[in-house]
This record gives sequence, C-alpha cells and structure tokens, in this order.
Amino acid sequence: MRIGVLTGGGDCPGLNAVIRAAVLKGTETHGFEFIGFRDGWKGPVEGLTTPLDPDVVRHILPLGGTILGSSRTNPVKMEGGVEKIRATMADLGVDALLAIGGEDTLGVATRLTEEGIKVVGAPKTIDNDLNATDYTFGFDTAVQIAVDACDRLATTGASHHRAMIVEVMGRHAGWIALHTGMAASAHVTLVPEQEYDVDAVAATVAAVLERGEAPLIVIAEGALPAGGDLTHTGADLDAFGHVQLKGAGEQLERSLLERLPDLQTRVTVLGHLLRGGTPTAYDRILGTRSGLSAITAIAEGNFGTMAALRGTEVVQVPLGDATGELKTVQAHRLAEIAHVSG
Ligand code: F6P
Repeated sequence: MRIGVLTGGGDCPGLNAVIRAAVLKGTETHGFEFIGFRDGWKGPVEGLTTPLDPDVVRHILPLGGTILGSSRTNPVKMEGGVEKIRATMADLGVDALLAIGGEDTLGVATRLTEEGIKVVGAPKTIDNDLNATDYTFGFDTAVQIAVDACDRLATTGASHHRAMIVEVMGRHAGWIALHTGMAASAHVTLVPEQEYDVDAVAATVAAVLERGEAPLIVIAEGALPAGGDLTHTGADLDAFGHVQLKGAGEQLERSLLERLPDLQTRVTVLGHLLRGGTPTAYDRILGTRSGLSAITAIAEGNFGTMAALRGTEVVQVPLGDATGELKTVQAHRLAEIAHVSG
C-alpha cells in the first residue's frame, strides 16, 4: 500500500513526531510505502510531493514545525478541488491519505471520506479545541512556553509595580489561556467563552496593586469585553473563513487606563512563539502514539477515523465526531480558576 501524508492548518510542535512514527511503523511492520504531500491540501491538489522514508524521518522527533510544510488551502472551496486530489492519488499510485491537522484539515478529511477517498486523521492543534480527543499534541508545548514567559514577566512586573498583560492564542477556545493562567498563578484570566467585565478586571487590578503585588493578566486573543467586538487586522478571511485576530491585549489595556489613569501597564503578545520550537516530551509521546494508531487504522482498513486520546489510551474515533463542533472551556473549569485568581 502507498500512503500520502500531509500536515495542514497552523503548524504545531509534535507534527514531526506523528510523521516519524507513521513512516517507521508503516514501513517496517506493514511494508507500506510513503510519499509526502507538501503544504497541506495544496500538495495533493497541485501534485506537490517530497520523498518520505525511514531515512528521512529517523531524526526529526525533536524538530518543531513540520518537514512537510503547511497551508490553509481548502480544496472543498475550490472548483474541482476534490477531483484534483483523486487524480493526483491515481497518478502517484497513492491508496490512502494520512491527514494531520486540526478542525479545518480534518473537516476536509471528513468530506473526502464521504466522497469515497480513503483517509485517516491525526488531530493536532495548540488550541486543544478539537472534540472527541482529550488533548491534542502541541497544546502542552504552547502552555509551557506561555507559563515560562509569564514567570519572567511577573518578575519584571514586580520590579516596576506594573500590570503585565499577556496575550496568548485561542480564537474560539480559551484552553491555552486557562491552563497558562492557572499554572502561572495569574490574577486575571480572560477567555473567549465568557465575555469579561472591564470594571471587575479594573477592580481586581487595583486590589492586587493595593496589597503590593504586580497584577498578571492572561488574555486569549479571542476574549471579548461585555458587549464589545473582536479586534482583528482587517485582512481578508482565510480559506476556512477565519479572521486574523489582533489587539485583544491592547484593547484591555486601553480600557484599564480609562479607569485607572495612574496605572502602568505593558502588553506582551506571545502569538506564534507558542507554535515554534521543539515539542515537550508529552507532545512527542502523544504525537508518536497518534502516528502509530493511525497506521494501525490504515492497516486494518479503518478509514474515516482519527487517532484520539481517551484517558491514557489512543483509540480511533470517527472523523465526524471531531469536526462537528469545537471543544470549548466548560463553566466548571472557569469556576476552578476563579477560586485561585484575584
Ligand atoms: O489554529 C491555531 C492558531 O494558532 C490559532 O490559535 C490562531 O488564531 C491561528 O492559528 C493563527 O493563524 P496564522 O498562523 O494563520 O496567523
């Protein structure tokens, strides 16, 4: 069997772990051949390939990013996109696809499955917002980077009696902000799932300063003030209909300064730092186990499924279970962090 592998959407630490595990197990245990498709769904649409064999992947485990490249190309929105993928697969003798991606990439994989193309998925996203799996690789690395940054910002904030605002990724789901806020003992954590009350945030900031501490505020890029609007760059929507967010931290800073004119604040936007560099051990292991599970699924003909973490086991679940709706932060998790904030 010949398998085409691609990585789509925003990159994330751990992608290379999946590729490596899939190619090593697929080649040595099942005698599969592999071909890499470059730059997400653009690869099979345009026939962009790269060789993929054990020698190529053996040493890539600690590497950040993806050796295959990525893009937000959406073949479903393209004239004849699905047929182009079918034609490329036929030309190259590719029997099945391993698609490693988040909600958008796996949404396309779900659609291709409906069109009769053999696809197995592996879920990735630093946002941890994919349904049907407990955690996605990339998330642990992103949170660790954000917590390290917060620990550093807290000491300089304390020296200068400043309120430090730290903006992290998280468009619709506040998992990164929630876990960062909890692990970095932030005084305030703001997520997209719950509009925030600027007066309440200002009161907390004032109280924290009053007792001699420097306020640390973690805000997700998609967090909104009550009745407010998303702040974004104004750039065109991408092929999956997403706006490019920008300015949540600055918006909060402006609102705080209106209420507390003597306040000193600094905003740090962590942005793509959270997606870069080497994966944590947890993400290397989760990525590896996802790749192994995906190859078992292909060997067993279990197409239209995705490798999902359930408790401590990686199992295959229907792709559609993951892509129907996003996994957002639940109220009880917000209640938990409220107990240890302020
Ligand atoms: O989907 C993952 C993610 O990192 C989001 O958290 C973020 O909003 C988005 O990608 C940024 O996308 P891009 O890399 O295209 O700017």
